[in-house]
Amino acid sequence: MRALALPESGSQPQLVDIDIPAPAAGEVRVRVHAASVNGFDLAVANGHLEGMMEHRFPVVLGKDFAGVIDSVGPGVTGHAAGERVFGVVTKTFLGDGSFGEYVTVPVAVGLAKLPDGVAFAEAAGLGLAGVAALDSVRAAEIAEGSTVLVSGATGGVGGQVVQLAVAAGARVIATAHTDEEKAHVGALGATETVDYTRDPAGAVLAGHPDGVDVVFHFAGDAATLLPALRNGGRVVSPLLGSPDQLPTETATVIPIYANPAPETLARLAQNQADGATTVIVQRKYPLADVPTAFADFAAGTLGKLVVTID
Ligand SMILES: NC(=O)c1ccc[n+]([C@@H]2O[C@H](COP(=O)([O-])OP(=O)(O)OC[C@H]3O[C@@H](n4cnc5c(N)ncnc54)[C@H](OP(=O)(O)O)[C@@H]3O)[C@@H](O)[C@H]2O)c1
Repeated sequence: MRALALPESGSQPQLVDIDIPAPAAGEVRVRVHAASVNGFDLAVANGHLEGMMEHRFPVVLGKDFAGVIDSVGPGVTGHAAGERVFGVVTKTFLGDGSFGEYVTVPVAVGLAKLPDGVAFAEAAGLGLAGVAALDSVRAAEIAEGSTVLVSGATGGVGGQVVQLAVAAGARVIATAHTDEEKAHVGALGATETVDYTRDPAGAVLAGHPDGVDVVFHFAGDAATLLPALRNGGRVVSPLLGSPDQLPTETATVIPIYANPAPETLARLAQNQADGATTVIVQRKYPLADVPTAFADFAAGTLGKLVVTID
């Protein structure tokens, strides 16, 4: 099968031809139709995870996938060949990524059925970013009528959070720099924007002197955002590994490690099917153009970058 992989340690990502994997016990094999780019993929591609996670070369890159189950491993119940699914590769080693024609994944975590009304390209954009978004919003415990700041609102995680926070009854202040970014977050439901290149916390306080109830931290330096938070507010961040990384005596700091539980994935897919939230697909790339997608991602996003696999 064709896959986008690191052939060996220190190599650049490239298109390779490798054997189609067989599903192990508790796994299914998915014929991948779409995948999407996350910061994690760039970290792996740049060798930043060598020494931190086992690498089984060739390391096929990619976390998010959407496609159709074509083979079911021993012991799997509740899933069958022909089923439309999507999710996040959660293996403890790197190697079995989603940027290929087939991927094998466990059914216990990181997999959910895909409603008919949701396209593969949309579902592929929901995976890791969607889970981080839903986990973040749940951790924030948003009260009706509260005000939240979303730093990184233009990205994959932030775009979902803006919509979920509005749906939870919050007034959303979003970071945006250009007019295009302002229009983007406005279309998602943000009622105010602050320019992250010009003291975003100061801009928030100018309009909200008591500070906001929640700061969602998906980009930028959390310490510079803290002054925008009211006493007793929450900082929710998938960029922090521990509350110790953001010392404060007035706020609750909640690190997020996205957990792609089937129930969370199913909720995201249903939100998309119902029109409660929308994945913004900024651009689609064929498998061979993943390196271009990585460069575009690193240059800044306005939604999700999706890889399509025919
Ligand atoms: N812990 C976990 O489980 C987990 C899971 C998923 C994601 N994450 C992390 O969560 C973060 C967000 O993920 P993502 O997929 O949404 O990334 P993303 O698509 O790159 O989004 C980040 C967005 O923030 C903008 N931005 C850059 N610098 C900024 C600043 N100083 N202030 C405000 N916005 C800024 C970027 O666009 P411009 O540069 O064009 O303005 C981009 O649109 C990443 O760091 C990712 O690694 C963690």
